[in-house]
Amino acid sequence: MPPTQKSSNATPYTSDPAWWKEAVVYQIYPRSFKDTDGDGIGDLKGIIEKLDYIKSLGIDMVWLNPVYASPNKDNGYDISDYRDIMEEFGSMADFDSLLRGFHERNIRVFMDLVVNHCSNQHAWFQSASRDRNSPYYRYFHWWPAEKGKPPYRWSIFDEKGDAWEYNAATSSYYLHYFSDFQPDLNWENPALRQEIYKMMRFWLDKGIDGFRLDAIAFCSKDTTWPALPEEYHGNWPLYYASGPHLHDYMQEMNREVFSKYDIATVAEAMGDVERVMKFVDPARKELNMAYSFEAIDFGYLPNEYKMPDPKGFDLVQWKKIHAKWTDAFSERGWGTIYLGNHDQPRMLSRWGDDRPEYRVLSSKMLTTFILSMRGTPYYYYGDEIGMDNIRFDKIEDYKDIELLTNYAQVKAKGGDLKRFLEGMKISSRDNGRTPMQWNDKEQGGFTAGRPWLKVNPNYPAVNVSVQENDPNSILNHFRKMVQLRKHNPVLIYGDWKLVDPENPSIFAYSREWEGKKVLVVLNFKNTRATLRTDLDLSHARVWTGNYPDPPGKKELRPYEAVIWEL
Ligand code: GLC
Repeated sequence: MPPTQKSSNATPYTSDPAWWKEAVVYQIYPRSFKDTDGDGIGDLKGIIEKLDYIKSLGIDMVWLNPVYASPNKDNGYDISDYRDIMEEFGSMADFDSLLRGFHERNIRVFMDLVVNHCSNQHAWFQSASRDRNSPYYRYFHWWPAEKGKPPYRWSIFDEKGDAWEYNAATSSYYLHYFSDFQPDLNWENPALRQEIYKMMRFWLDKGIDGFRLDAIAFCSKDTTWPALPEEYHGNWPLYYASGPHLHDYMQEMNREVFSKYDIATVAEAMGDVERVMKFVDPARKELNMAYSFEAIDFGYLPNEYKMPDPKGFDLVQWKKIHAKWTDAFSERGWGTIYLGNHDQPRMLSRWGDDRPEYRVLSSKMLTTFILSMRGTPYYYYGDEIGMDNIRFDKIEDYKDIELLTNYAQVKAKGGDLKRFLEGMKISSRDNGRTPMQWNDKEQGGFTAGRPWLKVNPNYPAVNVSVQENDPNSILNHFRKMVQLRKHNPVLIYGDWKLVDPENPSIFAYSREWEGKKVLVVLNFKNTRATLRTDLDLSHARVWTGNYPDPPGKKELRPYEAVIWEL
């Protein structure tokens, strides 16, 4: 896209304007967006078909989950050819017209860059795994069997929890932090890094506008493979996401690639504020934005795999986490805000209330939250119509490698499978991956065939088509919130301050910028609640609310959301 503002690398302070700070990002999971050829899998032509819909949302940027060639063991996060398009999704010509279609509508495009690992079907690994003398052998991490068993490393998608897999042809073990189909690339090898940079330029020269860097914090490894220190055991962000040269590589990537283009980047960054700040502090010249995990991973029971606390989540603690991260970027760096993506369940089911009487109210409340916080909003497809968790009963309905691995682990240990499946109804990733619900026709208008993952049976009531014509729909509330943010820099750059922090039901904060002050008040509970604040609301004017009739000043109805101009 032609540069409209100064390059991202020249932005020293938080409140200095940049297009990527002002953008609203819409995330598309191509597999589940729209199928045009009836194979039950979404495709690029499907996104092309929906370009005008996407434009109508008012968003500025799209993040596409991986569309590269892949055997799909992890839905595209296992890439077999970085310069080709996944067969089910279409062709490079389709990609080029999609990119053109977005740009014609002034929408920028972020690609997902998965370079901590590739697929075991990638030509590099195919060659490396046949012969120790292959030039590609050093593109991966190996432990020669003559040295005995490799030092323990944990793997997130491995049934045995073991990140080393034996390969007979080379008589050595290869490293995979994710599944054994996803061998880790050896970033300590400069030749590999140059290949990656070349590939990145290939996409940037096509005109894409940035990258979301998948699992990037894991890329550097201590290849002396010391034993894991006791204190790190089980705390994988601490150990695995802090390799010795991680930030050298981020800076090199910036120097050799990012700094040459008017693009933006966002990292999937692990760890605490200090670690994440390293990626986005502009003085360090690495990346632009990062999304963190502390708030999204909140509210699960300890020592159990993603089992939500049946008592719900503690809003006071959750607010403190958001305050910590928002404050961290008040002077340096820039944050992101999100409540859902392809690795999460649906935001409505996890953070709102998907029962029929609260679906609309709490969806609008969450949307008001995302679009009034400080940090670039990342909004997930389907949330704009209030899609919710499908809650599969049977393991056979699930497709996600993470869930299937964990199920097998619980089973192997003789654990409580029923309890596990109950937890997954709330937290599994597949809840957030069901096909987009376009209308009340068969399969929600997603496909003429059999969808790869079941469509939520509530599609006759919850779909784009019914909400298009209803001015009070969740969809139209999203559109209004996008415009409100766009036209009011106070919602983008304004200082952010928590109000009534100890209130157990209400999340309230003020935003202030160049003489304008607003107060955002959100009731996260299904009961009435009262805001305690000395702020004078007597002359306050309502910018937006989610009830049809006007709000009370400090008394909130269930899931009420109001933005006041003070
Ligand atoms: C990231 C992706 C996730 C994927 C994993 C392995 O966390 O968001 O979907 O499974 O990396 O690539």
